Amino acid sequence: MAKSGPRSAPRRLLVTGGAGFIGSAFVRRLLREDPDRPLIVLDKLTYAGNRANLEPVADSPGFRFVVGDIADAQVVEPLAGEVDAIVNFAAESHVDRSIESPDAFIRTDVYGTYVLLDAARRHGHRRYVQVSTDEVYGSLATGSAGESDRLEPRSPYAASKAAGDMLVLAYGTTYGLPVGVTRASNTFGPYQYPEKILPLFTTNAIDGQPLPLYGDGLHVRDWLYVDDHCAAVELVLSDGAAGEVYNVAGGNELTNLDLTHLILDELGLPRSLIRSVPDRPGHDRRYSVDAGKIRELGWRPQASFRHALSETIRWYVDHPEWWRPLKDGEYLGYYRRQYAERLEESSSLP
Ligand code: NAD
Ligand code: TYD
Repeated sequence: MAKSGPRSAPRRLLVTGGAGFIGSAFVRRLLREDPDRPLIVLDKLTYAGNRANLEPVADSPGFRFVVGDIADAQVVEPLAGEVDAIVNFAAESHVDRSIESPDAFIRTDVYGTYVLLDAARRHGHRRYVQVSTDEVYGSLATGSAGESDRLEPRSPYAASKAAGDMLVLAYGTTYGLPVGVTRASNTFGPYQYPEKILPLFTTNAIDGQPLPLYGDGLHVRDWLYVDDHCAAVELVLSDGAAGEVYNVAGGNELTNLDLTHLILDELGLPRSLIRSVPDRPGHDRRYSVDAGKIRELGWRPQASFRHALSETIRWYVDHPEWWRPLKDGEYLGYYRRQYAERLEESSSLP
């Protein structure tokens, strides 16, 4: 199949999952650059989807919001007919929820991806970009994964994303659909649902609640600022070679314990808030990807990690009206199921 990128970036977009954390940052970025750009967001508004995330660009002339499921071909089909490309951020995205209940992950991350691909193929789209994750490579003791490394997903979430990636690449090979896949590191920034470690620990700390650190806290993640993640997706949409995968790394590897210390130090709060709780089953020790390939396209992370982290923590301090309503209702049930027993068994760190 063709290995060169398209001559000009597709303009009319269907952005799925655009009401979530990273998808909404992508939409805000594109519509700030060009408010007239025809851009449809399709989002099911699961617990993680929030229309407030798109409020800053909701009045852009080119923008339309559709509530619906990517796994529903009847919803996807007509929307696919209105655009040149799909960028798929829609997913069930939280590892702990995938351990508790994998069903929705298979439905959205695998079957939903298939529905989008098939619509893109039938409408002859100029590009399909799948937003994937470094977690598909599994846990790495040393070194960094390259794009052609073996996939060894270990959680239901990672496995569902890996399956989605495989379908995307198969549609490129079989039907010549000009696909691209990004596999990025743990992403942080404003508007992240407070189940992931950074917004969870920050908002818990603000409220003087314990920070439930899994196991010994020495698991390593690479941290990528959300704007840099979005810039990488935008670049693959415009300049990525068809059929290719691009890793995206922040270059900021940190243990969870070190990250927790940075959060508490930024807030001026004591380390005694940290509770060591029973570990996540199958907890991946370390993720790391080599981003040399996307760097060759010209991408570089622009954010300074310490500065972006500090700004992000300040954003949660300054926007309790965004996260406080989320830590209610369904969230409380989830939190209890995940953490009540763990916190009973918790200890302070040595
Ligand atoms: P998120 O959970 O914040 O948002 C997901 C969005 O998808 C929500 O708006 C939700 O309503 C929507 N959605 C879920 N199921 C849907 C369905 N069936 N149909 C339509 N919409 C649906 O996730 P996020 O953190 O913004 O992640 C976005 C993408 O980036 C995901 O594909 C994820 O795998 C990937 N990713 C995330 C990270 C990270 O650190 N957060 C890192 C690398 C890759
Ligand atoms: P998370 O934000 O869930 O992202 P992922 O599992 O996709 O990497 O978790 C990041 C790291 O933080 C991971 O090693 C698990 C750990 N963690 C905790 O220690 N406590 C928590 O309450 C959560 C949610 C995560």
